[in-house]
Amino acid sequence: MIVAKTPSEIREWVKQKRASPAVTVGFVPTMGALHEGHLSLMRQARIECDVVVVSIFVNPLQFNVQADFDKYPRTDEKDLSLCAEIGVDAVYLPSTEVMYPAGHETTVQPGSTAEPMEGAGRPGHFAGVTTVVTKLFLSVQPDRAYFGQKDYQQLAVIRKMTQDLDMGIRIIGAPTVRESDGLAMSSRNVRLTAQQRHAAPIIYQGLQAARAAFDSGERDTGALTSLVSSLYDSEPLARTEYVELADASTLQPVSMVNAPSVIAVAVWFGEVRLIDNIELQ
Ligand code: PAJ
Repeated sequence: MIVAKTPSEIREWVKQKRASPAVTVGFVPTMGALHEGHLSLMRQARIECDVVVVSIFVNPLQFNVQADFDKYPRTDEKDLSLCAEIGVDAVYLPSTEVMYPAGHETTVQPGSTAEPMEGAGRPGHFAGVTTVVTKLFLSVQPDRAYFGQKDYQQLAVIRKMTQDLDMGIRIIGAPTVRESDGLAMSSRNVRLTAQQRHAAPIIYQGLQAARAAFDSGERDTGALTSLVSSLYDSEPLARTEYVELADASTLQPVSMVNAPSVIAVAVWFGEVRLIDNIELQ
């Protein structure tokens, strides 16, 4: 496994791999602090592609709160050995100075998909994501790129960007990996206190309650979302930021579930903000 630190290093390396015809390059962008959620994307890429590239870069542009960026876990050495164990071929690990040298000012602005939910609560977040993912895509030039459904809106924003900008990269969405008690794996889970960690599975329980009601015929957005909110309200350690029901591809709010939809939530436990979602179809 090689570790590349600059756009030209990774671009040259991929170019050499492409010297043999019909080589498929799979790419998994991450911010490191790797857990089973990330590893599942890498394993899928390993099965489906000839060459697997992973990037590790904690992207300052997508953090709207400085403290969240500062506290983001950084475990490069451990991450590199996990990548090597899975059989990743190359890790792209640029520094902030390489990614955003002084004077960097060009950004990629997403559209309406990025406005509700995470976009409303975290201004500028998705422009940070689309900008860095575009830069990573241009450096790695993959055929396929893997993203988790855990970040459902991110996946929708990236799909739309790839399509709108004719990037010619196939975006693969992979299922959310959960702890045994249902909590979606996240690099932020390590920041929960023992008590908060104990309470956090309520996030997925709320989503499952909504799905059960949907399966029994409930189609009204208000009824489905208040089922989730009232469960969260019963947990003193949880503070709900949003519970929203939206169209699965445009992410625009719907009042009735008549087409594939998603319920997405953001819930705070102390200083830690966790997100999750479930599809209804
Ligand atoms: P990060 O949070 O590190 O996540 C990297 C990828 O892993 C994303 O596609 C995310 O959806 C996926 N992922 C995280 N937790 C998961 C889980 N429990 N199950 C399945 N997949 C999971 O998302 C980002 O980084 C950044 O925004 C990035 C795309 C790298 C751009 O900076």
